[in-house]
This record gives sequence, C-alpha cells and structure tokens, in this order.
Amino acid sequence: MAGPTFVRACGLSELEEDTPKRVELDGTPVSVVRTEGEVFAINDICSHANVSLSEGEVEDCQIECWLHGSAFDLRTGKPSGLPATRPVPVYPVKIEGDDVLVSLTQEN
Ligand code: FES
Repeated sequence: MAGPTFVRACGLSELEEDTPKRVELDGTPVSVVRTEGEVFAINDICSHANVSLSEGEVEDCQIECWLHGSAFDLRTGKPSGLPATRPVPVYPVKIEGDDVLVSLTQEN
C-alpha cells in the first residue's frame, strides 16, 4: 500500500507562534498552527457551523472557535466543550528544511 502523500502547505518561517495560517490543499481548507515547539494541521472548518477556525485563538495546544467558543485539540481534533460535539479532522505534518508538509490522509 502506498504511504500517505504529503503536499507543501507553507514555509516554516512563514508561521508565527500561535498565529494560525489558513491554506487550501487540494481544495480543502486547512489551518496550520505552530505552537509549543510543534506544527499542527487541522481542518479549517468548525464542526459546529461553517466558521473558519484559523480566525480563532490558540492556547494550550487547542484552537478556539471564535463564534461559540468550542476549542479543538490540535493533536486529536476533539472539542473540549459544547456547542461542538464532533471532532475536526487533523492531519499529519512533516517538516523538511523550511517546508511544512501536510498529508490529507485523515488521522482520526
Ligand atoms: S461555529 Fe464553532 S463552535 Fe459554533
């Protein structure tokens, strides 16, 4: 079986700590987040309504939806509290030099 295919999302140097960056990969909106010494990729659409998570705040390895305040764990995509009940897909990330590579193969 072929392994996951990684595509370049952005440059590592373009990412500011705790400032999500929205990119489109194969038509999928993805929020790339550098925080706590790691880089994470999470689908940019909240599982509660059609809202862009990259416009929210990052804290404690979570990204908070600015509309109703559910926070999603960047490692698992799971919401910490209501109103969202469903997880948001998170994606594997690889760093190669200055390239941040993301695989849309869903992890959870
Ligand atoms: S739209 Fe994100 S929590 Fe409601």
